Amino acid sequence: MVKAGEPVAGSKQGAKKPAEGDTPIGPTGRPYHGFPTPPKLNGHGPARIIALCNQKGGVGKTTTTINLAASLAQYGRKVLAVDFDPQGALSAGLGIATHDIPTIYDLLLDSKRDPQEVVVSTAVENLDILPANIDLSASEVHLVNEVARETILARVLRKVANDYDVILIDCQPSLGLLTVNALTASHGVLIPLECEFFALRGVALLIETIDKVRDRLNPSIKLDGVLATMYDARTLHSREVLERVVDAFGDDVLETVIGRTVKFPDASVSGVPITKFAPEHPAAQAYLRLARELVARGAVA
Ligand SMILES: Nc1ncnc2c1ncn2[C@@H]1O[C@H](COP(=O)(O)OP(=O)(O)OP(=O)(O)O)[C@@H](O)[C@H]1O
Ligand SMILES: [Mg+2]
Repeated sequence: MVKAGEPVAGSKQGAKKPAEGDTPIGPTGRPYHGFPTPPKLNGHGPARIIALCNQKGGVGKTTTTINLAASLAQYGRKVLAVDFDPQGALSAGLGIATHDIPTIYDLLLDSKRDPQEVVVSTAVENLDILPANIDLSASEVHLVNEVARETILARVLRKVANDYDVILIDCQPSLGLLTVNALTASHGVLIPLECEFFALRGVALLIETIDKVRDRLNPSIKLDGVLATMYDARTLHSREVLERVVDAFGDDVLETVIGRTVKFPDASVSGVPITKFAPEHPAAQAYLRLARELVARGAVA
């Protein structure tokens, strides 16, 4: 049961520091942990690949990809963010203009092409991106007749996996061929859920799709976590939705919850992650905590 005033990273109220012998309860109803700073890595790669997936639009997939990627990079992980949405919001959010540069689409169409020619480094140290633009919207039509059309992205990413510790794929809001490619290429999937009334609608279909991919294409894919986003601890509504999400997913719900704040749209417009735009803001701190939680859970090296 979640009650008003409980700590939520990223919300205006911020997170209460756990007092000794009195660990406060976090918004997901579990004790609130800060998670330790991830240890330094001695070497890099091979990458663990994680798809950020939800066919519902506007739930925070792209925002989470950008800010989780930047947070992991800040902890010294080498990160590749893959824009897998023809809208190109991930590319734009990381300050990459994509109209006349090679993109992930070129790699999908031409298996001989070297992904290193398409990778772009960002303003964030340790963070690279495979950009996308509207060309990618043609790929479903082009790829539908390919042999092993579901494994095309997996084959592209295999070529760069040794250069990174983690690869995050920002999926488009659909369960079409591109998303199936992303799930087939991934070791894990992270589901962002917006804390609003229809949050759980369609999630059963998403889980069913993941199960089908596990069954037929990628036996080892696992659910790395469900991330509650746009949580507003001041509203009963947000708290009730989160409670329902915890009822449905239990410990798969990540302890880190992302609060609702206008800082995200502001940061996107300026083309930098919130961890750079407003590093002290509770929302930036929330994504750093998410990065630490994923390392603590073993989802990231
Ligand atoms: N925690 C948050 N608080 C407030 N606004 C947010 C938050 N997270 C994301 N947003 C804003 O909500 C909008 C949708 O977020 P985002 O683009 O990350 O979602 P998405 O799931 O990638 O959407 P799409 O399905 O269209 O790709 C954006 O304008 C973003 O800036
Ligand atoms: Mg998006």
